[in-house]
Amino acid sequence: MSAACLLLLLLPLISAQTFNWGPCPNPQVQPNFNLQQYLGQWYEIEKLPAYFSTGTCIKANYSLRADGTIRVLNSQVINGEVEDIEGTAVIQDIREPSKLGVSFSYFTPYSPYWVLKSDYTSMSVVYSCTDILRLFHIDYAWILARSRSLPPETVKDAKQLLISEGINISRMKPSDQSCSDD
Ligand SMILES: *[C@@H]1O[C@H](CO)[C@@H](O)[C@H](O)[C@H]1NC(C)=O
Ligand SMILES: *[C@@H]1O[C@H](CO)[C@@H](O)[C@H](O)[C@H]1NC(C)=O
Repeated sequence: MSAACLLLLLLPLISAQTFNWGPCPNPQVQPNFNLQQYLGQWYEIEKLPAYFSTGTCIKANYSLRADGTIRVLNSQVINGEVEDIEGTAVIQDIREPSKLGVSFSYFTPYSPYWVLKSDYTSMSVVYSCTDILRLFHIDYAWILARSRSLPPETVKDAKQLLISEGINISRMKPSDQSCSDD
């Protein structure tokens, strides 16, 4: 099957995603990543569209399990209902601890969760990219915060970082965090 043909088959699937020609960029990641400090609650401030998170008030809580894996508890509000989904994150190569992998089912492979930059206490910039035949790539990016909002200046810097790494953020949108649960 030709690549163009494959692309046509995949298009309906990826139309909600961010699709770009060429292979994934290879951004710099957070040096000396400290998982312990990264654990806890993060709120989604802005993101590239993702079919699996269309709700509002999106947040994630990362905690360590006894077996050393990371428990990921994602939560979003859809039609007024809170929906939680639990997944697992792992550091796949100890030499590159800021490149985590996340999976939400036994049957799906780990997707990249790369921490490009975080100060651990206020903001985090996360990138995930998957190559398809090195012809095109589908990517996600998130600007996360320890609280439901970030100063505009911080968001601007985070976007600048993504742009400087060759990531197309033209579809990036603020997330709705007008919520009052905590
Ligand atoms: C995050 O999860 C951990 C482990 O389950 C829990 O102890 C902690 O209270 C949670 N944090 C928040 C803010 O919900
Ligand atoms: C960035 O993405 C937008 C929307 O998907 C697209 O129209 C534009 O051509 C892309 N820019 C580059 C430089 O690839």
